[in-house]
Amino acid sequence: MSRFDKKVAIVTGAASGIGKEIALRFAAEGGIPVIADLNLEAANATAAEIKAKGSDAFAVAMNVVDEAAVNKGVEDTMAKYGRIDILVSNAGIQIVKPIVDFDYADWKKLLAIHLDGAFLTTKACLKHMYAAKSGSVIYMGSVHSKEASKLKAPTSPPSTG
Ligand SMILES: NC(=O)c1ccc[n+]([C@@H]2O[C@H](COP(=O)([O-])OP(=O)(O)OC[C@H]3O[C@@H](n4cnc5c(N)ncnc54)[C@H](O)[C@@H]3O)[C@@H](O)[C@H]2O)c1
Repeated sequence: MSRFDKKVAIVTGAASGIGKEIALRFAAEGGIPVIADLNLEAANATAAEIKAKGSDAFAVAMNVVDEAAVNKGVEDTMAKYGRIDILVSNAGIQIVKPIVDFDYADWKKLLAIHLDGAFLTTKACLKHMYAAKSGSVIYMGSVHSKEASKLKAPTSPPSTG
């Protein structure tokens, strides 16, 4: 029996990057990743890549800031597998600019994807985890939460070269 045998993990932003690698690894260890991404075409491609290796995977279109889309992705997962063991709230974007050039609209977009997205996906998954009396929620962070880096946060000072 594999480590994550038949466990179901919704991984947001799993069509590419770190989320995709999480999904591939989870599937390699026996789990079923749900590839939840804004980009459905890329999500389908990732799911196909996993299936080609003999594991199961499920792609869902999900903009993590759209409550209806989040709820639909979670309910479609429940309808297909009847369980959600893990949520990996990974979807995110980077906008790297000095604060004086940082548009307020970009600031709000960045916060929405990271914070509202984490809230909405957690809310939608938790009710099923509570019912099952089991579940894990994982939030993607960054080394830059702890370690300063030029322009990697809007509060960083402008680069002096
Ligand atoms: N790459 C890094 O060096 C790094 C470092 C620290 C933290 N992170 C964090 O790791 C996470 C993944 O980063 P990455 O480098 O793999 O990014 P990436 O750009 O390679 O992939 C992000 C994925 O999220 C999806 N996505 C974007 N907005 C979305 C939305 N609103 N709803 C659903 N999906 C959405 C994209 O379509 C894409 O598939 C992010 O939260 C990022 O902040 C990345």
